[in-house]
Amino acid sequence: MFGSLKALPADPILGLLAKYREDSNPHKIDLGVGVYKNEAGHTAILDCVKTAEKYRNDHEDTKVYIGPTGSPVFNEEMSKLIFGHHKVLLENRARTVSTPGGTGALRVAAEFIKSCKAGATIWVSNPTWANHTGLFEAAGLTVKTYPYYDHENKTLDFDGMLAALKEVSSDDAVLLHACCHNPSGMDLNNEQWQQVVEVAKDVGFLPLIDMAYQGFGVGLDEDAYGLRLMAEHAKEMIVCSSCSKNFGLYRERIGACTIIGETSAAVDVAQSVLLYVIRVIYSMPPAHGAALVETILSSDELRTQWHAELKEMRDRINGNRQLLVDKLVENGVTRDFSFITRQMGMFSFLGITPEQVQQLQDEYSIYMVGSSRMSIAGIANSNVDYLAKSIAKVL
Ligand code: LMR
Repeated sequence: MFGSLKALPADPILGLLAKYREDSNPHKIDLGVGVYKNEAGHTAILDCVKTAEKYRNDHEDTKVYIGPTGSPVFNEEMSKLIFGHHKVLLENRARTVSTPGGTGALRVAAEFIKSCKAGATIWVSNPTWANHTGLFEAAGLTVKTYPYYDHENKTLDFDGMLAALKEVSSDDAVLLHACCHNPSGMDLNNEQWQQVVEVAKDVGFLPLIDMAYQGFGVGLDEDAYGLRLMAEHAKEMIVCSSCSKNFGLYRERIGACTIIGETSAAVDVAQSVLLYVIRVIYSMPPAHGAALVETILSSDELRTQWHAELKEMRDRINGNRQLLVDKLVENGVTRDFSFITRQMGMFSFLGITPEQVQQLQDEYSIYMVGSSRMSIAGIANSNVDYLAKSIAKVL
């Protein structure tokens, strides 16, 4: 049976990581996969996570099954983190389940949408995270795109986006990035979110909000502005969130999927379908990452420490944006790259050709996704000169 298979190319993001690891050039720079790195280029475990891990080691007394929803404490803490003090929680219209990472949350959401309407269409931004399309299509959804990033002017094509969303059908889903748009770093401002929410109200599509980087943009509450506004007005909505980046729990695979229904009774029915979807895919989520997050979020001391560590990561990334732009100027680059400082979160497109991206990789051991998406966290004081000089050469 396997004989009929054709080999597939490596994943555009994860494949880069493998290549980078094999590269023996001491000057190599990894701007590929979206993971936070400190000045030394290391993805360290957060101190608050280490403390929570020690606590868990001392207190965990069973490995018995946890059930498809995952830990109820994690689910409750996550819904407070996502929504704050929000009417959907007061009205008891939201149900959160733990999932294997943000990707698990998205797959569960996609299967859930398919249960609502077989072959439903989901609209994603052009461009969007490389895995969104494959993941939704694998679940049997039809994927269409709405305009988003204007590559020529390095801005948001907001008029194009709004016009496209007005034409969406009321039984389609629309995927929106809550903050730190992956791959462009180009976010909606609050006023633009208000307009998108108005269109969502008028058209009545199902908003599916992907929040993989809460706290990496401006702050935990600020980054959830659009999502919370949407939840005030949408009758139904889905939120997929991830603890990979903001808690640095990447390999533990922990995220959450939240569904909001029109009423508490309606969302209970929807949740029963969600639980069935989970049961037939992976039965129940891993428990370790959820236990760490719930320990941190339910302790005043650890939560405060987490906020400080998250701020440090955010500030370093924002600092790197300015650092790169300054170094490019210092190295005689006349093209304007200042747009990088106006974007948010882990990523920006450098805006060079695929050939130039390949040249950076082949000749300078600098790794970024073929679209020229850079993970800004891979920049450090120790490599930014080499990076800027190399970019100047390929330009
Ligand atoms: C990324 O976009 O680099 C991250 O979200 C990691 C991944 O799984 O692709």
